[in-house]
Amino acid sequence: VTLARFVDPLPIPAVMKPTARRAHPAYPGQSLPYYRMEMRAFRATLHRDLPPTPLWGYGGSFPGPTLQARRDEPLLVEWVNALPEKHFLPVDHNIHGAERNKPEVRTVAHVHGARAPAESDGYPEAWFAPGHSALSHYPNGQDAATLWYHDHAMGITRLNIYAGLLGAYLVRDDAEASLGLPDGDCDLPLILCDRLIAKDGQLYYPVSDDPQAPWVSECEGNAILCNGKLYPYLEVEPRRYRLRLINAANTRHYMLALSNGQPFQQIASDQGLLSAPVPRQRVELYPAERAEVVVDFAGLDGKSVQLRQQSEAIMEFRVHDRGRRDTGALPAKLREVERLSAASAVRDRVLTLGEQDDAGGNPMMMMLGGRHWSAPITEDPRQNSVEIWSLVNLTGDVHPIHLHLVRFQVLERRPFDLFAWNASKTLKYTGPAQLPPAHEMGWKDTVRADPGFVTRIIARFEGEPGRYVWHCHMLEHEDNEMMRPFQLLPA
Ligand code: C2O
Ligand code: CU
Repeated sequence: VTLARFVDPLPIPAVMKPTARRAHPAYPGQSLPYYRMEMRAFRATLHRDLPPTPLWGYGGSFPGPTLQARRDEPLLVEWVNALPEKHFLPVDHNIHGAERNKPEVRTVAHVHGARAPAESDGYPEAWFAPGHSALSHYPNGQDAATLWYHDHAMGITRLNIYAGLLGAYLVRDDAEASLGLPDGDCDLPLILCDRLIAKDGQLYYPVSDDPQAPWVSECEGNAILCNGKLYPYLEVEPRRYRLRLINAANTRHYMLALSNGQPFQQIASDQGLLSAPVPRQRVELYPAERAEVVVDFAGLDGKSVQLRQQSEAIMEFRVHDRGRRDTGALPAKLREVERLSAASAVRDRVLTLGEQDDAGGNPMMMMLGGRHWSAPITEDPRQNSVEIWSLVNLTGDVHPIHLHLVRFQVLERRPFDLFAWNASKTLKYTGPAQLPPAHEMGWKDTVRADPGFVTRIIARFEGEPGRYVWHCHMLEHEDNEMMRPFQLLPA
């Protein structure tokens, strides 16, 4: 079916309001805003001409309501699992953590990019079944950034997020507020994810040929949703807008452009502002990556501009002058981004990204450092120490690698000799190191690790000691062994 383009208004997820203030033992003497976030099954219309689609969502919506935080102002979220006992997507019980002796529906929420203590970080094994809940606290002691929250339950994260369990989490701070960036209704998240949607409006999740082992290594949809709608439109005024692009897809990466050839001004990456705006004709986003861009619709009154993925339209902006003026300009400098020096690192960990194939050459699972999830901890940085992680990609695919808790910088990408590695586990470089482009020179939490390259990142391991995880953010990989715990040791 060819669906009519741009007949539904773009939904803007509501900013959630706290329902109470409560005390918490981690913040003696304070009373914190308390949010109750219920996960529920519901139906939503993804397009005017489609029957309603059964979904799961936080607060009964997809995406869930936006959580908004101010720097250094902690908040509490009670994540409540009010979902049914049966999953509506194909669970693979052979996958680690999704065995038949566990409840089929399990959830645990993670705020992606948050520096949250281990007990509130959504450890994949800290899941809870329908009828249960978990109280998390978020200190928000970090720079303004576009974060997002999503499910992280062991072995079924790909299905829970696909079902709709995701939303935006925005951290704001004074430094950013002083820059005069577009705000209010001119500052909005655009959450992109693709789904396989049938004519009857049902969501489908792809399966392998083996009904006993339905896991697939990739999941690409036939429809790209923006804030949960297919081909929506947004009425805008001829002025500047701040768009927070979030790639919430399972597998797909986006290469976004505007139909009128106008460049985006990228102002921020995963962990907040870049040092200066970077004009970009195209914005590439791998799963879980974010980019904030400023788009100026001035001079376009009466026209429309589409946001496109390659040649495919995702949504349309319709420009109408309503007499509101925008006199601000984008500052030439956004903030100081101190580069971490490789010399300050106490360790350089060489970590492979690999895959195990079956006899027919089909991927059976993906692995980090050649180890399964359940192998003993090997990554154990000390609190406040600086480490380099050299991600050696032995596969033929890009893997977007995410570390919980910390923000990092990309040092370089360097091509290496795969045969030499396979023969003797030695790293032999075959070309010079490539420095990251300007838009990757800010703080990140997810990085594209290209095939045939060693991608080197550097981080200061700030945060509370405890157990966290790092993983590939292609959710099919993450669920099938491409995730490892790490232990932050006390300083
Ligand atoms: Cu976006 Cu471990 O997660
Ligand atoms: Cu991967």
